[in-house]
Amino acid sequence: MGRNFKCIVTDDAAQWSSQAAQYIFDLLTATPQAVITLPTGMTPLPLYQTWVQDYGYHQDVWQNLRFVALDEYVGLPADDERLFASWLARVCLDPLHIQNRTLFQSDAAPESEAQKMRKWLALNGPLDLAVLGLGKNGHVAFNEPGTAFTESVHVTPLASDTLQANARYWGALERVPQAGITLGLADLAQARHTVLLVTGAEKAQILKQALYGPVTTDIPASYLQTIENVTIIADRAAASLL
Ligand code: PGA
Repeated sequence: MGRNFKCIVTDDAAQWSSQAAQYIFDLLTATPQAVITLPTGMTPLPLYQTWVQDYGYHQDVWQNLRFVALDEYVGLPADDERLFASWLARVCLDPLHIQNRTLFQSDAAPESEAQKMRKWLALNGPLDLAVLGLGKNGHVAFNEPGTAFTESVHVTPLASDTLQANARYWGALERVPQAGITLGLADLAQARHTVLLVTGAEKAQILKQALYGPVTTDIPASYLQTIENVTIIADRAAASLL
């Protein structure tokens, strides 16, 4: 059993992004051609901005990474700007010139995409590094509450909390796609190293439950208690109940 978290707690937003950027960058430097997955969301945005600002100093590390998508909406056209792949390309992958990308095709048959990704992981996995955000309902990627810890890549309806949280990106709740495809908790649990990014007081309660509450599929992030090599990078507000 895990529970051996390394916890980095920073005082403010500026310190959070510089420490997260440096910590993850050091892990990548130590692993040539690392297979890495990265989250979308408001939490990691300042981290990506820091990497992009410092790009000039670190080009060689970014060039050699192998990026694999963490999750994606299902059923959008391939050029839709709201795809997670489009968002990540804009804020991180393009500016860092990360060319090697394994993505979910949102407009393809979802089950065959899931199968393709499972095969890809069987050949190229496990992940060297899983960088993850934490949903207010305890989800990681699109592993919503109730997802078995043994699930690999799968297609899933999105929880109503997730639809609500994502409505800000879409202008209205009705416009948020209802389904997603995601790496499963079984795939994430195999990662050689996991970094969970958490900021803001509204995540304090769920972070505490995930790390110190019961290990339960009601809180998907509680799987972190069962694995090794987990680092939490939190600001003081998110870590206030730990
Ligand atoms: P957030 O999303 O970073 O925008 O809070 C996290 C998540 O839902 O996984």
